[in-house]
Amino acid sequence: MEQLLVALDVDSIGEARSLVDRLRGGVVGGFKIGSRLFTREGPALVEELASRGDRVFLDLKFHDIPNTVAGAVAAATRLGAWMINVHASGGSTMMRAAHDAAADEAAKRSRPRPLVIAVTMLTSLSQETLGEIGVCDPMLSQVGRLAALTQTAGLDGVVASPQEIDLIRRRCGRQFAIVTPGIRAAADVKGDQSRTMAAAEALAAGATYLVVGRPIIAAKDPRAAADRIAAECRTVIGSDPSGVGRHVRGIRGV
Ligand code: C5P
Repeated sequence: MEQLLVALDVDSIGEARSLVDRLRGGVVGGFKIGSRLFTREGPALVEELASRGDRVFLDLKFHDIPNTVAGAVAAATRLGAWMINVHASGGSTMMRAAHDAAADEAAKRSRPRPLVIAVTMLTSLSQETLGEIGVCDPMLSQVGRLAALTQTAGLDGVVASPQEIDLIRRRCGRQFAIVTPGIRAAADVKGDQSRTMAAAEALAAGATYLVVGRPIIAAKDPRAAADRIAAECRTVIGSDPSGVGRHVRGIRGV
């Protein structure tokens, strides 16, 4: 199920490896390594998984001056990351620098360019928090504006909450990747995620990739949990082999 990306939100390489070993082999489409695991363990696991052919979404949400972001994206590309992200609020010059660094570094190594996507507004932000930082527009307008800016800057897609998929899909078209966390079945504990959607619903709404953490990694049997989610997704994707990935047809790896 190539649309299903599992967030390796654990504290050690050992725990991450044991999850990956249980989940590898067709049921998931890749693994997300975020700042928690990366800060504790460094880049070794990214290289290790990439060298074994696993797709790694390196979720470090870069946000800095363009030259620094370009350097970080080039480094992530060297590690073999399949997908990398930055903050759209860093602006179009920064996003273009990220895109170009990924393209240049990949070309130097004769590798496919990693997907470069942007975070619009973190799903933890509320309208009130936007006010604190001087953004007076409604949340959805700001998300739409930053998604459009991301697309204009040449990036491949955005990270978006399930509730934002429809707006972004209408504004940015079918080829733009939408990577969606906040996936919960009705019976799941929501934890700190407030705006959630079931996996099949999110795919039907137009998500390209789903990022699922705790419903899989905290399950008694992570493989069985992933199998259940993948089966649910197949009910939406059906027998079309390109499935929901049609949204990113033309982008490598789909
Ligand atoms: O455990 P859960 O399924 O909530 O994990 C979701 C993953 O997606 C976590 O790694 C979280 O950091 C990430 N994420 C998110 N919301 C965003 C961006 C990333 O939940 N806006």
